[in-house]
Amino acid sequence: MKWTNNKIILITGATNGIGKAAAIKFAESAKSIAFTYRNEELAEDLKNEMQKINPNLSINSFFCDFSVQDSIRECADKIKNDLKAIDLLINNAGVVNTEYSETIDGIENTFAVNHLGYFLFTNLLLDIVKKESESRIINVSSAAHHFVKGMQWDDINYKDDFKMGLKAYGQSKLGNILFTKQLAKKLQKDGVTVNAIHPGGVNTSLGNQNNSLLGRVLKIILKPFFRSPLKGANTIIYLAEIDGLSITGAYWVDGRVAKTSHYSKNEAEAEKLWRLSEKLVNQEFDI
Ligand SMILES: NC(=O)c1ccc[n+]([C@@H]2O[C@H](COP(=O)([O-])OP(=O)(O)OC[C@H]3O[C@@H](n4cnc5c(N)ncnc54)[C@H](OP(=O)(O)O)[C@@H]3O)[C@@H](O)[C@H]2O)c1
Repeated sequence: MKWTNNKIILITGATNGIGKAAAIKFAESAKSIAFTYRNEELAEDLKNEMQKINPNLSINSFFCDFSVQDSIRECADKIKNDLKAIDLLINNAGVVNTEYSETIDGIENTFAVNHLGYFLFTNLLLDIVKKESESRIINVSSAAHHFVKGMQWDDINYKDDFKMGLKAYGQSKLGNILFTKQLAKKLQKDGVTVNAIHPGGVNTSLGNQNNSLLGRVLKIILKPFFRSPLKGANTIIYLAEIDGLSITGAYWVDGRVAKTSHYSKNEAEAEKLWRLSEKLVNQEFDI
């Protein structure tokens, strides 16, 4: 039997790409799927698709713009009110930006969405994640975390060195791994596992918006080498469906624990990122 059978699953950024492929797969076995969206039409399409697969599935959708901290807070409040418990949280919503921009909270968009989005959303929902015994958190990271040699503490926004945004993206994905390791340690006492994954190079809409001409051309050139969204979702699906998952704080690629960069293993850096993230979201989370 799959672990996801009769479970309550929450997935962010499920209206496209890897998240959508995972949500559709989970519709076969879950009791309830909740997801976040930005675009109402895409959310309706996903709901209809999942309902066709499993007419008994309970579906909840919540608007959330992960580049706006107030939106994350409003969304988390609604989720806590409507869901009461979560067995599996998948942080997946992410962006690649090749041009510099800042959010309304004054943070570079890639770092805000990809790292602070996971950090704030997860911490706000921890009460209801912990309600279920042996619940799981999966953070979608990337092999792009190898692009950087650690967090750039003196310019976390990459404002002075943004170029094509590759390092900002790599740093945000390194942030996902540092966050995964730190959260896994903090939640060990609660029996919650926290793991990060790299989905491979996947043919999705990632990087199609807010990107320079060069970025779009690069994507077209690389497209034939990319896997399908369902293949990209395979490691998420694997970690969600296996029974008795006890490994926590690990990074997975193609269904196996994989090595991460030297910089992602530094516990002091992980703690430093936790404290900086608290400062940037104006909220402390001592769990
Ligand atoms: N594709 C790859 O090759 C690859 C490789 C390594 C890691 N990843 C990671 O995989 C994850 C999923 O990416 P993908 O490739 O599936 O990309 P995608 O097709 O562009 O999907 C990204 C999802 O995130 C949502 N999203 C983006 N910005 C958001 C925001 N500000 N607020 C709320 N939702 C937002 C999008 O919403 P909309 O539907 O409204 O656009 C979409 O549902 C990301 O974390 C990415 O870093 C991807």
